[in-house]
Amino acid sequence: MKTLSVQLSENGYEILLGKDILHKFTSLCKKSSLPKRMFFIIDENVLRIHKKYLQTNLFDEKKDLVCKLPAGEKSKSFKQISELLKVMLENKLGRDTLVVSIGGGVTGDAVGFAASIFMRGIPVVHIPTTLLAAVDSSIGGKTGINFNNTKNSIGSFYQPKFVLIDTTFFSTLPEKEIICGVGEIIKYAFLTGQDFYDSVLAALPLFYQKDFSKTVHLISASINVKTEVVSSDEKETGLRKILNFGHTFAHSFESELHFKIKHGEAVTAGIICALYLSHEKGFITEEQLKKFLYLPKQIPLSATLKKLDKEKLYRVMLSDKKNRDGKIKFVLLKNIGEILLDVEAEKVEVFNAFDRMFKSI
Ligand SMILES: NC(=O)c1ccc[n+]([C@@H]2O[C@H](COP(=O)([O-])OP(=O)(O)OC[C@H]3O[C@@H](n4cnc5c(N)ncnc54)[C@H](O)[C@@H]3O)[C@@H](O)[C@H]2O)c1
Repeated sequence: MKTLSVQLSENGYEILLGKDILHKFTSLCKKSSLPKRMFFIIDENVLRIHKKYLQTNLFDEKKDLVCKLPAGEKSKSFKQISELLKVMLENKLGRDTLVVSIGGGVTGDAVGFAASIFMRGIPVVHIPTTLLAAVDSSIGGKTGINFNNTKNSIGSFYQPKFVLIDTTFFSTLPEKEIICGVGEIIKYAFLTGQDFYDSVLAALPLFYQKDFSKTVHLISASINVKTEVVSSDEKETGLRKILNFGHTFAHSFESELHFKIKHGEAVTAGIICALYLSHEKGFITEEQLKKFLYLPKQIPLSATLKKLDKEKLYRVMLSDKKNRDGKIKFVLLKNIGEILLDVEAEKVEVFNAFDRMFKSI
């Protein structure tokens, strides 16, 4: 088992990563003096597929409070949060209760948000079961829901007590979910450096074969990038913005497709657009562009992206929460490991980036 940590001025925490480590949950709770009363909120598919493993290692349905969360982005809504809060009130949860979220990024974001506002905040632990949630969403304390067709527009910063990543769960992930996780790992590859980039490229087939014993070092390295960035900029006032590479574009695709595209796939398409825009702005040469596109283009993208209306996408981007003075702020690339923050672009340059990405599908 590997232990990584998020170091914050207050409320730092550990991330435990390994295979078959779920049984360590109780001792980790004891070590951190967490409440003994537990409320487990579990993605419905994870509960169905892994019920036996969860019951053996985590909870006792006769004693513990267990609640099933519907799968899919629709759970990141006020309607679902209000359902959760109602169950929490009815069962008289308080600050003496530990909320445990078990599922992908949707479960972590929704449950983290509910825990952050219930009784002004009750403790939460994340057990991510998708590759994307393990390398990204479970770490860093961003919680939230979608509102008014705008991605993650309502939420909070709320750090978990610890994160337990048991790679055993990943063996049942459908290929499209592996692709989503790999999309975020590719993002880290661009942020970090050539060696990591080359390792990710070489390991792509192993991810699809679900050989996590041979990719766990890349999962761990990805988590490490995220923990280091979050540790130095918890509330995204500076450096943490680099994690949004490709995301301004990605959120516009998700909104315009009414969240019918997977987040990880949208991120990959967004990274391709960000690379084209970096080229349009003259930050990278034609030769670099060709080289950099090679990795994200290994990920298959849905043809529905091509049908999107650029004007509508642009309008969504204008409402991005990272904008300042009504201007869209992009995260672009100068080289692998060299990221440019808060870049502004002409509308025509953004449209060209869209067109070039559409043509490449
Ligand atoms: N908070 C953050 O910092 C942050 C960062 C990145 C992404 N996100 C959010 O994360 C969400 C995407 O997360 P996701 O990609 O994990 O999607 P998800 O939570 O929707 O899970 C994907 C699918 O996999 C299923 N599933 C989960 N674990 C499984 C398992 N072990 N075996 C089989 N099926 C399993 C789920 O039921 C679901 O159908 C988006 O809403 C995105 O905005 C948040």
